[in-house]
Amino acid sequence: MKFTKVEPAYTSKHGCRLVWKGIDEDDSDTVILNKDEFDSLVEILKKDATGKITLDDQVSTIIINSDVIQFTLQGHPLLEAETFEMQKQVLEYAKIPHEPQYLHVSSKEFNPSRWIRKDAKETHQMPESTDEQNVRQSLMHAILNSNPEKTDQSLSESDVFRIFASRRSTRKFAKTKIEDWKIDKILAAADTAPTAGNFQGLKIFYVKNDTTKEALVEAANKQPYVNAPAVLVFCMDPSRVKLKFPPKILEKFSMQDATLAASYAQIAAAGLGLSSIWIGMIDEEKVMSILGTDLRPSSILCIGYPDKKRPPKSRRKLKELIEIIE
Ligand SMILES: Cc1cc2nc3c(=O)[nH]c(=O)nc-3n(C[C@H](O)[C@H](O)[C@H](O)COP(=O)(O)O)c2cc1C
Repeated sequence: MKFTKVEPAYTSKHGCRLVWKGIDEDDSDTVILNKDEFDSLVEILKKDATGKITLDDQVSTIIINSDVIQFTLQGHPLLEAETFEMQKQVLEYAKIPHEPQYLHVSSKEFNPSRWIRKDAKETHQMPESTDEQNVRQSLMHAILNSNPEKTDQSLSESDVFRIFASRRSTRKFAKTKIEDWKIDKILAAADTAPTAGNFQGLKIFYVKNDTTKEALVEAANKQPYVNAPAVLVFCMDPSRVKLKFPPKILEKFSMQDATLAASYAQIAAAGLGLSSIWIGMIDEEKVMSILGTDLRPSSILCIGYPDKKRPPKSRRKLKELIEIIE
């Protein structure tokens, strides 16, 4: 079903009806929002923000992500609408002038980036060019020039940019056991990482055994937090990379494959409310011997619930990180 329009709510003078329609004539669904609920939605959309609204029944929710708005309402199937589409219609209905923003990224403050509008090329902010490189470069300018906003605690949990912006490594884990389904999700996320030629030149060892974890502490320069609730060792497997390149290149590819997979796992863990510490300081030979493998490890990712939630660390200015080659 696709979100199609906003119209007056006949039962509530100042509220509205949001209408979804399917392919079939009879296939439709309608959500009625009262004034307060509608005002909350308008408030978030007019700021190009993300967030969560709990409806009056205290059970139903609307989650506004940068790309999609999800309505989880009692008595309805999950209804979704593209944020861009709903924002346009809702703000028009509320008679709030709104200039579509094609990109807004604030990377330093705790706030998610925005998405690239579908109509980006039609807005005046986008230079008229079909040249791919120019487009990318103007996006870079937009990133560099955007103003950071302050933290909005109501931001949606599922916004990937929120996860990037709020992730913080942990070296002190709570004793809480990690749910198996979360581990499954982390491993599945690692498997979605790109790999050279899609040959998946890596292997992940999921260490559950306490003795092995202790041995890994030793192999990691005695870093005690390696003995974490979940320990993943990312190893390179260049033999899987069936590309006609010298062994050195294949080695390099598998190192990148393993590193990227670990990075995806780290982000996934953060998205699941967990925290992690990336361990690069390892004695490779020792790790290989502990795991009984001839695959060289690239990193160990130690995951758990953080003992204490802490804000993300600061970074150098984005302008210092990036050099634009005009
Ligand atoms: C390649 C690499 C190697 C790292 N090795 C270690 C390590 O051996 N021990 C450790 O405690 N942290 C290690 N870290 C974690 C970094 O210290 C940490 O990510 C950094 O301070 C930034 O903090 P943040 O992750 O909270 O943003 C490593 C991180 C990376 C990316």
